[in-house]
Amino acid sequence: MTKIASIFDLETLARKRLPAVLFDYIHGGSEQQLTVQRNLDDMRALALRQHSLRNVASRDTAATMAGDRARIPLAVGPTGLAGLAWPNGECEAARAAAAFGVPYCLSTCSIDSIEDVADATKDADQPFWFQLYLMKDKQVNERLMRRALDAGCSALVLTIDLHVQGKRWADEKDGLAVPPRLTPKNVLDMLVHPRWLASMAGSRRHTFGNLEHEIEAGKSVGSLSKWIEAQFDPTFDAGTVRWVRAQWPRKLILKGVMHPDDARSALELGADAIIVSNHGGRQLDGAPSSISVLPAIAEAVGGRIEVLFDGGIRTGGDIVKALGLGAHACLSGRACLYGLAAKGYDGVLCALDLFEQELHDCMMLAGLASVHDIPPGVVTAQPPLGRAR
Ligand code: GLV
Repeated sequence: MTKIASIFDLETLARKRLPAVLFDYIHGGSEQQLTVQRNLDDMRALALRQHSLRNVASRDTAATMAGDRARIPLAVGPTGLAGLAWPNGECEAARAAAAFGVPYCLSTCSIDSIEDVADATKDADQPFWFQLYLMKDKQVNERLMRRALDAGCSALVLTIDLHVQGKRWADEKDGLAVPPRLTPKNVLDMLVHPRWLASMAGSRRHTFGNLEHEIEAGKSVGSLSKWIEAQFDPTFDAGTVRWVRAQWPRKLILKGVMHPDDARSALELGADAIIVSNHGGRQLDGAPSSISVLPAIAEAVGGRIEVLFDGGIRTGGDIVKALGLGAHACLSGRACLYGLAAKGYDGVLCALDLFEQELHDCMMLAGLASVHDIPPGVVTAQPPLGRAR
């Protein structure tokens, strides 16, 4: 394939280049993947009502997200194991996001470390964000926050929906571990993906860069993913967020808000922003799509906190849909990761370019001059036949 026309082409390239154990991890969700599918279906089911008699020659797409500038209202969302999809993958993705001009959020479960990414982006004028999974061991959390502060991260994205890891059936069957377990099936799968295999030889790290020092000395690296899984904390609650708020002096963003009650709590707890997100359908299977709960959450907080959104964004038009239903801006995890897995730095830039071009096209065709002014009624449910007025 030469011409990449859409995010779906990047997905196809990623599927070809990666061993199944890694592609399944990126692409899939928990259990029956009902929520993964809902995110996509519900986004597509929305209609855009256009006005065609408007001059849209000049358009404003610039935004700020948690105080950081964004050339389009989209940040690169946190995704685990990006550095197994491409050598030094988190550094490459962060560099691409900074070059494009949008925030990049590094996952706790990254391969490159916080310090690696800080070093790779030291000449950029765009700070990155750090996503924190709260661990049972409070000292690990304190150390991670300290490292993120020292690295200059401008925002902490605290994930609130991981009291236990959602069961991803494909990962269980594939034997996903970090580094990937060398079962005969996985070895064969890697051998038939020689481009990936050869490229990974150039990777600085092959395990969780933020956490490898946290495991007890002498334990094998193969058990690190197990250690992390056992560290997810079922006691996580509003008090835990309060504790993080007291430790973290910069912007705090709560990721995984799916109910207006939690959005109101986020306000009371002093968060600066929330991300309406069902974790890309990777946690509670059966949860509604994140786009379906967005309007009620936006209404509940009434502009008193920044409402960010992720889940099912594959085109620039999807960004317009989320903004039209009350989001201030969006994050894209999978779509940018497909880009990274397909072509590294260039692939992430390509994904962001596609989003930008499609955003402009959608705005022109819908009669919108600014991402900050999408009138009510532009994004609607598809009206029943004959009812559109
Ligand atoms: C990590 O956040 C994952 O969903 O695997």
